[in-house]
Amino acid sequence: MRDKILKLLMQNPHGYVSGEEMASQLGVSRAAVNKHVEKLKAMGCEIDCKRNAGYRLASLSDSLLPEFVEIYRFDAGEAPYTILHYDRVASTNQTAKELAVKGAAHGTVVVAEVQTAGRGRQGRTWTSNAGEGIFCSLILRPPIAPQDAHLFSLMAGVAVARGVSAQGMLPNVGLKWPNDVLCGHRKLCGILCELSADLDGVDYAVLGIGINVNQPTFGQELMGVATSMAMETGRVIPRARVLAAVLAEFFDLYAEAMGEGTPDFASLMEEYAQWSVCLNRPVTAIQGKRQLRCVCVGFGPDGSLRLRDEAGTVHAILAGDVSIRGEGLYA
Ligand code: BTN
Repeated sequence: MRDKILKLLMQNPHGYVSGEEMASQLGVSRAAVNKHVEKLKAMGCEIDCKRNAGYRLASLSDSLLPEFVEIYRFDAGEAPYTILHYDRVASTNQTAKELAVKGAAHGTVVVAEVQTAGRGRQGRTWTSNAGEGIFCSLILRPPIAPQDAHLFSLMAGVAVARGVSAQGMLPNVGLKWPNDVLCGHRKLCGILCELSADLDGVDYAVLGIGINVNQPTFGQELMGVATSMAMETGRVIPRARVLAAVLAEFFDLYAEAMGEGTPDFASLMEEYAQWSVCLNRPVTAIQGKRQLRCVCVGFGPDGSLRLRDEAGTVHAILAGDVSIRGEGLYA
């Protein structure tokens, strides 16, 4: 109900909406409308109340509470996910794994305002200051073989690329294999997929997504390497809008790949190639201690990176990292 009240107030950004009108549109009493308005104020929204005029939304809270994400969801049907919002956790991936072990359903999304021990790939930490970024982890229970689970990280990359560039929010977005989302030459988003599986299949996958939205700057160690949507556009962006867009894109892509019959990731990988900053570029592929100087010639439907080495042999790799040679791209 609160999200519906917010939607009505947002449709009329400059004027007042009467309590009576809202009550009759939503089929509730005026007292109920008033109760929800008070709760929205307590959640950080500024709402002016004027006798005989009604309510006016002066400013929206920048929280990632489900009510705020919901107002940016444009699909009339039921959301294919359920958001569990936390003010503070060590790591949303950690919380999501604990919930998954206890049986949390496919489509549960753990979101936190702050992470005190945000984790990145290869044991790195993920800077997770209060209210600046999006820190979320999706619990998935896909009926697929464990070796295909990494495709969901690539899917998350495409979803973020689509979501952050939707409605012209951010230009110059690209994907660096396997799943860094870049804006220009800098990293905008990182993805960390953790899996619980056995030979029979996947029990759950936790797909952790960290998006830099409103960081005004980064510390010395990330300077020139990381960027945020605010740094790129000069504007503060409602994080709930970005999260709603990314979740909508992810669950659309998921339904398309997993929908009917056998999972099929071919069209996902075709789109992935279009976002790729590696395609047709000279790259150095790093797999453990091994380094391969190649040209990226494409991507397989299994999520592999296809590389042609200097002798003309084409290799397909499923894991590792790449750096793009000859350009100042994030390595
Ligand atoms: C990377 O190193 O590029 C991956 C970074 C992943 C960060 C996200 S933030 C939400 C989720 N929780 C974590 O602890 N990590 C992931």
